[in-house]
This record gives sequence, C-alpha cells and structure tokens, in this order.
Amino acid sequence: MKSTIHKLMQGKPAYRTGRHSIGFVPTMGVLHEGHRSLIRRARRENDHVVVSLFVNPLQFGPKEDFKRYPRTLKQDLTLLKQEHVDIVFNPSASELFPPGFSTAVEVPAYEKTLCGPFRPGHFRGVATVVAKLFEIVRPIRAYFGEKDYQQCRVIAQMVQDLQIPVRIVACSTVREPDGLAVSSRNRYLSKKEREEAVQLYQALYLGRELIEQKIMLDSQRLEKRLKQILSQIPRSGVDYISVVDPVTLAPMKRIHRPAVLAAAIWIGKTRLIDNVVIS
Ligand code: PAJ
Repeated sequence: MKSTIHKLMQGKPAYRTGRHSIGFVPTMGVLHEGHRSLIRRARRENDHVVVSLFVNPLQFGPKEDFKRYPRTLKQDLTLLKQEHVDIVFNPSASELFPPGFSTAVEVPAYEKTLCGPFRPGHFRGVATVVAKLFEIVRPIRAYFGEKDYQQCRVIAQMVQDLQIPVRIVACSTVREPDGLAVSSRNRYLSKKEREEAVQLYQALYLGRELIEQKIMLDSQRLEKRLKQILSQIPRSGVDYISVVDPVTLAPMKRIHRPAVLAAAIWIGKTRLIDNVVIS
C-alpha cells in the first residue's frame, strides 16, 4: 500500500496502537539485493514493515549526482510487493521539505572523518531526513546497511543524543559474487569499470588479512600500500583509505584493537565506498 505523510500520520491502523511492532527501512529506491536483505530482516523481526523511497535532495552536494540518480519506481514497487512490505512511503520533495523548511540535524563528531570532508553537508542531509522519517513512521526498529558504515554511526549517535526511541539495526554488506558491494551507483559503471571495481574489495580484503595476520599493524604503512594498489586502476582516484575506530571513526595509528578499514574511490565518474570490519 502506498502512503502519503497524511495517511501515515492520520490513519491509525492497528500497528500504531503500540500493540504491533514496526520495522522501518529508509531507502532512496533503485532497490537491489542489499536493500532486500534489510527488508527481509525487518520482516523477520517485526509485525509490520514500512519502506520509504525518497531521493533526498538535502544529502547531495551541488556538483553531485542528484539529477542523474536513477529512479525505478515501478520495479521497486514490484520488489516490495514480493517481499510483503506493508507500507511503501514515497513522498515528494515538496511534501517532506515544503518552502520555508529550515531545520537541520547535525552530528559534527562524524563530519571530519572518512567521507565527511569530501562530501560537506552530506551527513547533515542524511540525519535531517532520517530524523524526519522516524518522526513520521515511528518505527520500533530501523535497518541500515554496514556498507554505509559512517551513515550507521551518524544515525546511531543522533538517536542516542536526541533520545529517539528507535533501535538501529546495522546489517552486513551484501556483495556480488566477485566481492563488489552491491550499490545503486554500480549501474553507472561501464563494463570495463565494473570489472576494475572489484579491486576496491580486493584491496580491503588484503588489508584485513595483513592486519589479522599481524603482518602490518602500522596504519600509515598499510594505507600507503593499499593506496598504491588502488591507484593502478585506470582513470581512478582515491579519496581515502583509512583504518578507524569502529565507534568514533577516529583514525587509528597502531592497529591493536577492533577497527574498520574503509575506503572511497572514484572510477571514472563514479564514486564507490566500501569497508571491512576487523575484529
Ligand atoms: P540507499 O543508498 O538507498 O540505501 C538504503 C539502505 O540500504 C542504507 O541503509 C544502505 O546502507 C543499505 N545498503 C545499500 N547497499 C547495501 C549493501 N550492499 N548491503 C547492505 N545494505 C546496503 O542510504 C541511503 O539510501 C540514504 O542515505 C537514506 C538512509 C535512505 C537517507 O536518505
């Protein structure tokens, strides 16, 4: 069932009485196996599942791909039906952000690390829309992918700081058979670029091996080595490859405790991010 804000807020179906649990999966559409895994987990753990489809203009920079971001509503609705999703929330931008809208939610602790400096305002846009969606949907649990590790941390911190009564569930990254993380942006890649893109995961995998086998525990050396490998991809550029603390996302010098190895690279005109957790 498709729903507007009005219907979601005003209609008081049984699930809003508090007797039933709502699991929520916010998305920007172009649904793929990564989204499907979040939806399936929400389906298993809740009485009702709400999925939002909304390409959020606030989280795209002026030179980013908001306009060319793919929109595949018809296919998305078919997938959501297959997955027995109860409510699909597909608002328009003017419905969520009417003229005069001026509130922002910021989580500055995470702005200076990883993607933060490369995408100014991005996480503010994400936190603002997600706070608003939480208020509209009022889920008991919300599902996010670890592929966007920093986003998970931003949302978890926001929920903790603002005491929003929703449990954030972080779900493992779904990968293609060769290891590339499934992503809506993979469809921008040419056939050749797609073949090269797997090297991002291979570099992260190698990094994790070098750490776990205790061969390289100095993060600067490790990052340099992996950057060299990634730089060999034609028409590529490395925004960062960093070892960070799994909670604060602060860079780690010596790797002697659990960490996250995260990277963002460009292949041609496509920016890809990925990470591996080191336990
Ligand atoms: P979107 O990119 O559509 O992703 C929606 C959710 O799917 C996010 O939580 C993301 O981490 C998760 N996801 C994407 N690829 C995944 C994969 N390969 N494996 C597991 N999970 C994956 O992230 C956003 O939208 C937006 O920023 C949003 C949170 C909806 C706010 O606008």
